[in-house]
Amino acid sequence: MSAIGVFDSGVGGLTVVRELIRQLPRETIIYFGDTARVPYGIKSRETIIRFSIENILFLLKQDVKLICVACNTVSSCALPVIKSHFRVPIVGVITPGVREAVYATRNKRVGVIGTKGTIKSGSYQSQIRQLDPQVKVTAAACPLFVPFVEEGWLSGGPVLEVARSYLKPLKDAGADTVILGCTHYPVLKPVIQKVLGAGVALIDSAKQVAIEVKKILAQEDLLGRGGPSRHKFYVSDNPEWFRELAARFLGKPVREVKKANV
Ligand code: DGL
Repeated sequence: MSAIGVFDSGVGGLTVVRELIRQLPRETIIYFGDTARVPYGIKSRETIIRFSIENILFLLKQDVKLICVACNTVSSCALPVIKSHFRVPIVGVITPGVREAVYATRNKRVGVIGTKGTIKSGSYQSQIRQLDPQVKVTAAACPLFVPFVEEGWLSGGPVLEVARSYLKPLKDAGADTVILGCTHYPVLKPVIQKVLGAGVALIDSAKQVAIEVKKILAQEDLLGRGGPSRHKFYVSDNPEWFRELAARFLGKPVREVKKANV
């Protein structure tokens, strides 16, 4: 077993792959994006659990040593259930982001933004409160951020206007730390920072999950020893669309994307 398996509802999980490659340069990544069934952010919990189990079964066939759930919606709605089905270590994005946010806040006011599914699950909110009951959490769903990123509208009037409206409750609550609880949001960091102000710490769950993956691989004595082989990218539909968008999330183009059936 040699590679790290990563899955997401689509292309956004490449923000996590980018961090994994940066922090774990010796590891090989096998990525699966469920582009046939994206978005997950508006689906029911039962459907998300079913899709996730299918995605993990696909990755296990590729012989992976750990699975990273890059999708915030899956991590927040389904992680304990999917973990109970498998023996392989499975790492989600919520806990690492929560830890960092609780550590970073000075005024004990934390904001969380994500898909409707992520916010409705209450996972971020309850994990923050568990870690520090004194922290006041303000959460907001920002569903239009995903299409803005996928369409490449990363700055300018429309996205700024939408960001102002979505982020108003967080500003009003005086949050000094905000968790970017969706794969796509790190791409909108400049706009989000502009609206919230330079003094607000933005917690990128992609960065935090890569730290967590590294820790678990070290604990389990699974760290890669040679150099990486070529990373592999699979999708359940439309490899061309994925390839066109990949560079925006990964920071560099993806050469080969294969279609896979889950
Ligand atoms: N990957 C999803 C997440 O991080 C965003 C896109 C979707 O709704 O599927 O929540």
